[in-house]
Formats: sequence, structure tokens, C-alpha cells
Amino acid sequence: MPAKIIDGKAIAEQIKSEISEATARLLKTHNIRPGLGFIIVGDDPASRTYVRMKGKACAAVGFHSITKELSANTSIEELLTWVDRFNQDDSIHGFLVQLPLPQPLDESRVIEAVSPEKDVDCFHPMNVGRLHLGTEAFAPCTPAGIIELLLRSGVEPAGKHAVILGRSSIVGRPLATLLSRKGRGGNATVTMCHSKTTDLQQYLKTADIVIAAMGKPEMITGEMLKPGCVVIDVGTNRIPAPSVMAGKESILVGDVHFASASQVARLITPVPGGVGPMTIAILLRNTLRAAERKAGVSL
Ligand code: GUN
Repeated sequence: MPAKIIDGKAIAEQIKSEISEATARLLKTHNIRPGLGFIIVGDDPASRTYVRMKGKACAAVGFHSITKELSANTSIEELLTWVDRFNQDDSIHGFLVQLPLPQPLDESRVIEAVSPEKDVDCFHPMNVGRLHLGTEAFAPCTPAGIIELLLRSGVEPAGKHAVILGRSSIVGRPLATLLSRKGRGGNATVTMCHSKTTDLQQYLKTADIVIAAMGKPEMITGEMLKPGCVVIDVGTNRIPAPSVMAGKESILVGDVHFASASQVARLITPVPGGVGPMTIAILLRNTLRAAERKAGVSL
């Protein structure tokens, strides 16, 4: 039987509707409207699209949002001045500097300049450390979104073997922390594989949950998977469109070969429409939490 699709768009909409309700409550009880800020440097079209989508999501849940656009040749000093303005702005409860930054801007320096209380990406070393200690204020958006997708699809990670493919600091590593820790959405046995792993198959054949986040188009095929597993595909790879798709230059595919994997897995996320919408939903939820914390609302 083909796998059931995990509809990330629908689950993200459900979370956004919970955020809308909480936002209306916060406005009514404390006269506070959550505010999310974006700083974007340069004119990378993908980054501009992402920031526009995030801004629209803010409006949809009743948040206030501000976008500061800076030219590609902005100096580090000027960028840090804007980071500081956003740090000081009381109407902004969370903000992010869209990555990647144009060369030669130093991303680490910029991330470390964001106030940890407003770091809704959870990229600041203080928040990364807190996440690993289990004392975090925010969880990073994509990994936390994956945990929500699993739980809201009826998949309880406790006791399962979760295999994460990819060791990036924004997906693979924090996800390993969330899945392996005690508590909600955790208690899994986690294996992290990467480009130097020998015999990937050895791990995949016992994997109950597979999270593919290595950025290799359609690398994981059905025959590599354990029948009945759950597949979460974090990949977003643009590849040339097959010749049968007349009129299309390129298509978006994941790190999983969907057609074959969906014949073997029990549940699978599509690309697009799986993990992607969840990242934005959790970004909004982190911002709501930052605003609630500032208002002294007990969480
Ligand atoms: N670029 C792509 N995804 C992200 C993200 O989640 N946060 C930031 N700051 N930049 C990104």
C-alpha cells in the first residue's frame, strides 16, 4: 500500500490558527502585538522570496513585521548598527538576519550580535548551548517543525530508531538533540549519518524514522528503506525538469526519491509542502513566545 502523505501545509495552517488565537488573546489582555523583524542584505532572489513569505505569514496571524533591506555592498559596521537597532526596538520581539550573507560579511559575527532573547532562529551560540542543555527559550525552526510534524501525524519518536542524514548545525545536529532528549517528541535512539558514513544501508535497514537533510537530490530510494518506516524529507533541490514536462525549466525535488520511497514507507512528507511550511509556522510560534515572555504571560 502506498505511503500516506504527511501534509505539512495543513499542519502548518493548524499551528498558525493556534498562533492567531493566542495573538488575539495577548492583544486583548496585555495590549501587545507580537512583532517580527527581518534584515536582508543583497538581492538574492530566493532569500527575497523567503522573506516575503515570512512577512505575509506575519500579517496572516496578526503580527506586526518590519523588513530592512540593505544593499549587497553594505559594510559589517552598518549591518551591525541595524542589528543593534532591532535589538533595541521594543515593537520587535524577535528578528532574523536572512542567510546566507553576501561575501565578505562574517555570518558568525552577525549571529552573535543578535540579542539571544530576540533570536527566534535559535542560531545564537547562547541559544544553541541552552538547547543542548535542555534549558532553551526557543528551538530552531526546522528541527522543531519536524518534531511537530511527527507528533501531529501520530508518530511518537520514543523508543524508535531515528536515522538523521546530514550533520548541519541548523538541521541535523539540533534535531539529534531534540529527538534523543527526555521529554515531548524525544526519547528516540538516534543515529546521525553523513557524507563520510560507510555503509549507510546498515543504518537505514533498521530505521523506523528517516530524516533526509543532506542536500543530495533524490539520493534515498525506496529499496534503501525499511518497509513501514516514516520518511521526513528536508531537501529542497532545484534540478532541470525532465523532458516530459514541456514548458518547465526546473523542478523542486527532495533528498528522497519520492516515487519509490512512497511504495515502501508508511508515512512520507512531499517536497514542496512537507517540512518547508513548518519552518515558518515555528518561526511565528517562537516570536509569539518571545512576546508572551516579555509580557510576563506564564507559558
Ligand atoms: N536562510 C534560509 N533559511 C533561513 C532561516 O531559517 N533563517 C535565516 N536567518 N536565514 C535563512
